[in-house]
Amino acid sequence: MGINNQNITITKSTTTKINEVDFNNLSFGENFTDHMFECDYIDGKWTNAQVRPYGPISLDPSAKVFHYGQAIFEGMKAYKSVDGAVWLFRPEENLIRLNKSAIRLAIPEFPKDLFFDGMEILLNIDKEWIQTSEGSSMYIRPFIIATEEGVSASPAKRYKFMFILSPAQSYYSGEVKVLFADKYSRSASGGVGFAKCAGNYAGQFYPTKLANDAGYQQVVWTDSSTHENLEEAGTMNVFFRIGDTLITAPTSDRILDGITRKSVIAIAEKEGYKVEVRDISVYEVEDAAKNGTLLEMFGAGTAAVINPIVSFNFKGNDYNLPKLEDSYASSIKKKITDIQTGKVEDPFGWKYAVRSI
Ligand SMILES: Cc1ncc(COP(=O)(O)O)c(C=O)c1O
Repeated sequence: MGINNQNITITKSTTTKINEVDFNNLSFGENFTDHMFECDYIDGKWTNAQVRPYGPISLDPSAKVFHYGQAIFEGMKAYKSVDGAVWLFRPEENLIRLNKSAIRLAIPEFPKDLFFDGMEILLNIDKEWIQTSEGSSMYIRPFIIATEEGVSASPAKRYKFMFILSPAQSYYSGEVKVLFADKYSRSASGGVGFAKCAGNYAGQFYPTKLANDAGYQQVVWTDSSTHENLEEAGTMNVFFRIGDTLITAPTSDRILDGITRKSVIAIAEKEGYKVEVRDISVYEVEDAAKNGTLLEMFGAGTAAVINPIVSFNFKGNDYNLPKLEDSYASSIKKKITDIQTGKVEDPFGWKYAVRSI
């Protein structure tokens, strides 16, 4: 089935910034392509869908997003193979999650046909920007903000949905040392932790800065009532390998249901690794570190895919993880990225071929 661009107005840029970008030296999320997609929610429906040159948008200072934080987003990637075909990785999962976030933030859900048609038209128009070299991808940022004017504390009646695109390279964050949270919380039961809403990130910045100042790159958040169960890191779900068992926390209303997390579990199970999805306490991990059975810890998320953790701090004590030759982290990362970039067959049906216009 082709793309229905009947309802999407296209205005192309007369210039391009592509020659100003050093694709071998990209900082994550700092360069944007020549076009963007936008669509407005007015009078109870999504309308005015258009692709136009990338640039500033104009909002009234009283727009509700500025005051009450009705803002949600997603993060996904497109890959281009040498023959020019463009692929997405499990994109429907992002749409499902976007709409779960929308419901929780009292934002209208975004329709599936406009999501896919809009994104694929934009990817076609800015296709030159998607590089085929090893590790290259196009980071896609869908988001919705409340645009209605007025400072009364109630859900807005008008919203803007957008896609912006940022070329990305494989991401190496150096040696990641983490701090287990024992004072601050990222989310609470009954709250918005499972939603990808802007405020969840704003609330992490201060405690994460304190951790950074103390020499740790990330905080691993614990449950807000006991601070005993390990939940997730800044923008990643976390996995622990104790002996030969891979353990990760179950998702809940406090934890983002990561697409990379789901993929890691599926691959690990297919490879025959023992996987346990269950509560994992700071004391269990501390004991395993002390008795030498804690072999690996890693984060899983779209930006880095898998990010190995080299040490953790719990209540003032640092524990180092062993350096392994054949880690689960590196083998699972290779399996996921080989599927994403089309190097191997995709036995799971995760790849989605972007339609041409
Ligand atoms: C809080 C949080 N947890 C986990 C993840 C990982 O999710 P995904 O694998 O879908 O990127 C992200 C990133 O999107 C995140 O922001």
